[in-house]
Amino acid sequence: MTAVTDDRNVELGSGRTMPLLGLGTWQARGRDARDAVRTALEVGYRLVDTATIYGNERQVGAALAESAVPREDVFVTTKLPQGNAGRERATLEESLEALGLDYVDLWLIHWPPGGRARPDVWERLLELQAEGLAREVGVSNYSLGQIDELEQATRRLPAVNQVEWSPALFDRDVLDGHRRRGVQLEGYSPLRQTNLRDPRLVRVAEAHGVTPAQAVLRWHVEHRIVAIPKSTNAERIAENAAIFDFRLTASEVEELDALAERH
Ligand code: A2P
Repeated sequence: MTAVTDDRNVELGSGRTMPLLGLGTWQARGRDARDAVRTALEVGYRLVDTATIYGNERQVGAALAESAVPREDVFVTTKLPQGNAGRERATLEESLEALGLDYVDLWLIHWPPGGRARPDVWERLLELQAEGLAREVGVSNYSLGQIDELEQATRRLPAVNQVEWSPALFDRDVLDGHRRRGVQLEGYSPLRQTNLRDPRLVRVAEAHGVTPAQAVLRWHVEHRIVAIPKSTNAERIAENAAIFDFRLTASEVEELDALAERH
C-alpha cells in the first residue's frame, strides 16, 4: 500500500521553501507559453521556470497576472544570460518589467560566463538579492568545483544549481556533492534524456498504474530534486503534476538510478 504524500516542497538553506515540481518553459513561445503557464497554475503547479533567453517572460508574466493564484504562492525563476555578465542590474530590471513583478523568487546565472565561475558576477547577484529584487540567487550548469570557487571568494553558496538531470543522467557523486554543500539540485529536461519505453521504467510505472513520465518525475521527488518538465500540451501538463498520490519504493528508486548505466 502506498501512502498519499504531501511532500511538495523542499527547504532551501535560507529556510524558504521551493516546490519540487515546476513548469519548464524553454522553447514555449507566444500564446503557447501563456496558455501553458495558465494551465499549469490551474492544475496546481506553484513553480514556473523561465529565462531571459527564452524570450517568453512577457507571456509568463501575463499568465501570472491573469491567474487567480496569489503572487506570493508562486515561485518564479528567471536567469541571467552568460553574455549579460556585467549588466546584471539592467538585466534583472528588464526581467522584472517583462514579468510584471517586483521580485523574482530565484535568479540564476544561466551558464558559467565564458565557462568560468565568475565570483564577480555572483557578487552582483548577492547585491541584488540584498536589495530584494530576488528572494534567492543561484546558478545553472555549474560544476561543484565552480560552486566551490564562488563560495571561497564570497563565503556564500548558491541556493540552487539547475542542471540537466534525468534517470539516464543520474550521478550519485554529483547529487551527494550538492547535498553535502547544502545546495539544492534542480533538474531540467527530466524527460527528454530518458527512454520512456525502457522496459525497466515501464515495469515500475505499471506497478503504480502511472505513466513512465510520471514515474520519472516521481523519482526526482523521491531524491528531493526539483524537476521542471516542460510541456505546452494541457493533458501532459496535468499528467506531469499528478505525481503526489503515489510513491516509489527504495528498490524502485534504485532500479531507475540504474538507467544511467551505460551498456
Ligand atoms: P510537449 O510540449 O508536446 O508535451 P523535457 O522537459 O525533459 O525537456 O521534455 C520536454 C519534451 O517532452 C517536450 O517535447 C514535451 O512535449 C515532452 N513531454 C512533456 N511531458 C511529457 C509526458 N508526460 N510524456 C511524454 N512526453 C512529454
